[in-house]
Amino acid sequence: MTTYPMTRAKGCPFDPPPELGELRQSEPLTRVEIWDGSRPWLVTRYADQRALLADQRVSADPDRTGYPMSGPARPRGDDTSIGFILMDDPEHARLRRMVTAPFMIKRVEAMRPAVQKIVDDLIDSLLDGPKPVDLVEAFALPVPSLVICTLLGVPYADHDFFQENSRNLIRTSIPVEERSASFKRLYDYLDELIGSKIEKPGDDLLSTLIERIASGELTRRDAAGIGVLLLIAGHETTANMIALGTLALLEHPDQLDRMRATDDPKQIALAVEELLRYLNITHNGRRRVALEDIEIGGRTIKAGDGIILPNDIGNRDPDVFDDPDRLDLGRDARRHVAFGFGVHQCLGQPLARMELQVVYGTLYRRIPGLRLATTVEEIPFKHDGAVYGVYELPVTW
Ligand code: HEM
Repeated sequence: MTTYPMTRAKGCPFDPPPELGELRQSEPLTRVEIWDGSRPWLVTRYADQRALLADQRVSADPDRTGYPMSGPARPRGDDTSIGFILMDDPEHARLRRMVTAPFMIKRVEAMRPAVQKIVDDLIDSLLDGPKPVDLVEAFALPVPSLVICTLLGVPYADHDFFQENSRNLIRTSIPVEERSASFKRLYDYLDELIGSKIEKPGDDLLSTLIERIASGELTRRDAAGIGVLLLIAGHETTANMIALGTLALLEHPDQLDRMRATDDPKQIALAVEELLRYLNITHNGRRRVALEDIEIGGRTIKAGDGIILPNDIGNRDPDVFDDPDRLDLGRDARRHVAFGFGVHQCLGQPLARMELQVVYGTLYRRIPGLRLATTVEEIPFKHDGAVYGVYELPVTW
């Protein structure tokens, strides 16, 4: 019996574990064994992943029997929720709708000049500061953190606090008690912030939740949970895409030249999609449980069976992407599943895309000599995080 997760091949930090590719060829729907001895289905073909993620007969609720947990316990408080990401419709859709507006393309585009200024100012500071420098600390984390703070109405001055607790919360190698404590700290922080906005609302997303609480549509508990979800998802993912994407480009100089050579927004947007596809930082699989028997690919997934859908290998499916293991910024990779698919497809994707377009379109042009100040072997990769990336990226120019 194959066990999941598998490890990446040595020296291939950007590629999913090779066994996943072999399974997609030989047994695209197969049972695997996970840490607790249970045997969920592992679904490795792109088409099957999309079909199942869009299927209303699957649940994202980890409290249901059969859900394939990624570890012995889930960090959580007693009476807290982590937004709607682990809920099913109709409650999931009801809560998601309350925060959709600021993430719509038009609203996100209106933020582009402000994001460009954030990026330019941070690059000015990099250029004025000492070298080498850790790009994660000095650039990759501040960009999305500043953006999501403005959008939510969270004081950026608290960034050390929320960045550290978010990092610990999703780090599977530390004890679950510590992760739960991080979750609780974030939850209490958001709850308090929401409380202060009841007194003094601002022009931000958290303040719009106050109106929902007042009208009885939203509990304060759910509002704080949504705040935690948006704060974590809003900075941790994009930060990893910035740092890991930079490393991938430095390791593929022909593609970096291509990126530097263009200021065409369409080309930059396509390059971002390809980096999202190729790196697929949400690397430990979308997780679901079947609510009913589901026939797919000649197999029957029974009600109550766990399902793991590793979108990293879906994005390397040769039936969908030619020569999928090659990073090719010229290809049209927009069909990728790096943002998931179906009802839980990433709410923040227009924002993430815009931030990455600004970053990738600016950083390497303004610092053309950017290079690693260490070797790839020395870089600490986030094998133990729910989101893949690098803990540090020492660079110079
Ligand atoms: C490059 C950056 C990002 C990547 C790769 C990414 C990836 C994902 C993926 C794969 C999911 C689906 C989870 C599932 O199906 O189980 C998701 C959901 C979500 N993402 Fe993102 N994300 C990114 C940035 C963001 C940003 C900037 C935000 C802004 C707050 C955000 C907010 C969310 C939310 C709220 C959900 C839950 C949606 C739902 O359950 O309906 N993400 N993301």
